[in-house]
Amino acid sequence: MQTCQNLEQLRMQVSEWRSANETIAFVPTMGNLHEGHLSLVDIARQKARRVVVSVYVNPLQFSPDEDFSSYPRTLEDDLIKLRAAGVDLVFTPDDAMIYPDGKQDSAYVEVPGLSHIVEGEFRPDFFKGVATVVLKLFNMVQPDIAVFGEKDFQQLLVIRQMVDDLNLPIEIVGGRTKREADGLARSSRNNYLSPAERENSRFLSESLEQCRRQIKQDIDITQAENACIAALESHGFTVDYVTLRETSRLKKVSKDELALNRELVLLAAVKLGKTRLIDNLIFTAEKVTVGS
Ligand code: PAJ
Repeated sequence: MQTCQNLEQLRMQVSEWRSANETIAFVPTMGNLHEGHLSLVDIARQKARRVVVSVYVNPLQFSPDEDFSSYPRTLEDDLIKLRAAGVDLVFTPDDAMIYPDGKQDSAYVEVPGLSHIVEGEFRPDFFKGVATVVLKLFNMVQPDIAVFGEKDFQQLLVIRQMVDDLNLPIEIVGGRTKREADGLARSSRNNYLSPAERENSRFLSESLEQCRRQIKQDIDITQAENACIAALESHGFTVDYVTLRETSRLKKVSKDELALNRELVLLAAVKLGKTRLIDNLIFTAEKVTVGS
């Protein structure tokens, strides 16, 4: 496995692979890797001859009150995991390479609409930061395929729309959310939870499951969302949102649309103490049987 910080070195390796007609799959990450990230690497390995992973904590997607400086940076451990996972190249750019003119004065890309609803209402510049760094990384790595987790469902949609709108010749593949045994979605931010908070955190996925069952049982959507919020609050969560949306543009869903068998997603963001967690549940109303 190669590691490289240098753009020229990356470009040389990529063009060598290209001239040998080898396909390239790319997994962008911010490091502190866990099984969720590694499941995306597995998908990448199945889809292409070569796998590139980037590890870069992108300052542009953190607001001043967020955890940029305390975000866990564990490159040595990450490299061990990536080598064991059969990755060909790990790209670890630094801020000077990604934002040579400083992050404020560099060009950016934004997907309007999608970036300013749901998660975007709470983190107004977040998706601009994500789209910009991902576009830059795409241009550096020039992959055929890129893999993103459904854990960050809205991020996956933003990237898909950016790729469609800007005609990038890259296939975007989504990977299922990996969870702990008690249902908590794996996340680097789970490390911030105290033992008591970690114990409580399982109620997030449990409450979403309960909400899904209620929606299937034909309870009014707003009532089901509000019941879910109340249940989470009773377990000590501060809730930013719990909302049922359709899965293409995250439009709100009316009761009539439930019957149309559309794919739906229940999106949630909560705080437990100082830690902010997001999760989601994707389902099709018609196909879910009561009690499942
Ligand atoms: P990061 O949080 O490190 O996540 C990297 C990728 O791993 C994302 O596609 C994310 O959705 C996926 N992922 C995280 N937890 C997962 C889980 N439990 N199961 C499956 N996949 C999971 O997301 C980012 O970094 C950044 O925003 C990035 C796209 C790298 C841009 O900076």
